[in-house]
Amino acid sequence: MRSKKQYYIRTFGCQMNVHDSEQMEELLRNEGFCSTGDDKSADLIIVNTCSIREKAEQKVYSILGRYRGLKQARPDLIIGVGGCMAQQQGTDLFARAPHLDFIFGTHTIHRLPEMIKEVERNRRRLVDTCFHDSVQSIGIVAPPRGGSVSSFVTIMQGCNNFCSFCVVPYVRGREESREIYDIVNEIEVLTRHGVKEVILLGQNVNSYGNTLNNGANFPLLLKEINGVDGIERIRFITSHPKDLSDGLIECFAVLDKVCEHIHLPVQSGSDTMLRRMNRRYTAGDYLGKVEKLREACPRISISTDIIVGFPGESEEDFQKTIDLMEKVRFDSSFSFKYSVRPGTMAERYEDRIPESVKQDRLMKVQKLQERYTLEGNESLKGSVEDILVEGLSKNSSADVTGRTRTNRIVNFPGGTGLIGERVYVRIQNTYIHSLRGELVEKERNWQC
Ligand code: SAH
Ligand code: SF4
Ligand code: F3S
Repeated sequence: MRSKKQYYIRTFGCQMNVHDSEQMEELLRNEGFCSTGDDKSADLIIVNTCSIREKAEQKVYSILGRYRGLKQARPDLIIGVGGCMAQQQGTDLFARAPHLDFIFGTHTIHRLPEMIKEVERNRRRLVDTCFHDSVQSIGIVAPPRGGSVSSFVTIMQGCNNFCSFCVVPYVRGREESREIYDIVNEIEVLTRHGVKEVILLGQNVNSYGNTLNNGANFPLLLKEINGVDGIERIRFITSHPKDLSDGLIECFAVLDKVCEHIHLPVQSGSDTMLRRMNRRYTAGDYLGKVEKLREACPRISISTDIIVGFPGESEEDFQKTIDLMEKVRFDSSFSFKYSVRPGTMAERYEDRIPESVKQDRLMKVQKLQERYTLEGNESLKGSVEDILVEGLSKNSSADVTGRTRTNRIVNFPGGTGLIGERVYVRIQNTYIHSLRGELVEKERNWQC
């Protein structure tokens, strides 16, 4: 007989959701659960959901359908659903998935242990998708497992921007920043678990501090974290172009631990679309910020998000997105077909774009991006890069894998002894998703 109950968590969506799942795991471990990689043998299954696009929701329905069979075979199995889709749909999820035991939201993760106990005791369905002024689970320290050297740290919750296409403000609530000392304390604890890189999380990290009213802002926070012993690299996602200040741009040049990469979603190159999206910047503003970033830090790698087929997007509007891509030559990008989200402003826009047009535009964006990514990677051939080794390579146990400061994956021959080390690697071959190189001895000063 097994002594400990086993949990299995299936996560959909962004890094914020991945980190929420890590915090759920921490809560479950404290309750005496242990994890299993096999959902068929789990006593508890949690599905952490995403509702950013319709496709994300379909994936969730499909997995919930699969778990109906598991529940029939083992009625003692407990199934809970959390995350953004659970937040938005609440009790309605029971109609589509009557085999669920409980539903919790993005602000009620801390109630997970209590809800599980109540389901075990009373065997009745539970829902708690209340919003709270602050998310109680936000500061749960969840050191990465398996000796990982990189860890997520949430610096703020929610979003106040209400981009007209986006569901996030409705499912994550209002923006609220954590205090600098809380964040720094958490990072100091993480360093004692061997963490050397932090990835700061927020829907709009550049507006960090706005709700604190004590003078705190994102550049100040970066400065504090830059001073934490044991931390070697700082990354953050996501930056909103409208809030990208000169102070933050300067951080890339002067703070040695801030890595030379920014994810700066542009969404569209057309001012008409940007206005309808409620993004509050123009293509010209965006290009101006890119220029300043490159002036301050010539090595900086810039990635973006692009939406094609937003309601009313003409061929001319779409061409402006292509023009902007040609001007910026992003190192990488995520591109999406617009998906109508219930409750958002854009749900009311009637000039929708046919699926075939969206598909065609998406292909054009992706093809162009592939070219720029390959060219960007190729330009690194022969250069020596500073790599933080993250683990053994998935493809070959004779290789290790890590990232450049500009966020490119590099594989090279090496053993487990290198994991967690910062090393210098000469790039020999370049591909679309990764680079390949060899270890060199030489050290350098890597600042911009
Ligand atoms: N907070 C981040 C991103 C959040 S969602 C930001 O402001 O940039 C990640 C990306 O999903 C967005 O940048 C956008 O490109 C895409 N996205 C969001 N809602 C979408 C929708 N309804 N349809 C298609 N793509 C969407
Ligand atoms: Fe969504 Fe806009 Fe907020 Fe990003 S900034 S989460 S796209 S509303
Ligand atoms: Fe992330 Fe999806 Fe929610 S992108 S914030 S998990 S809607």
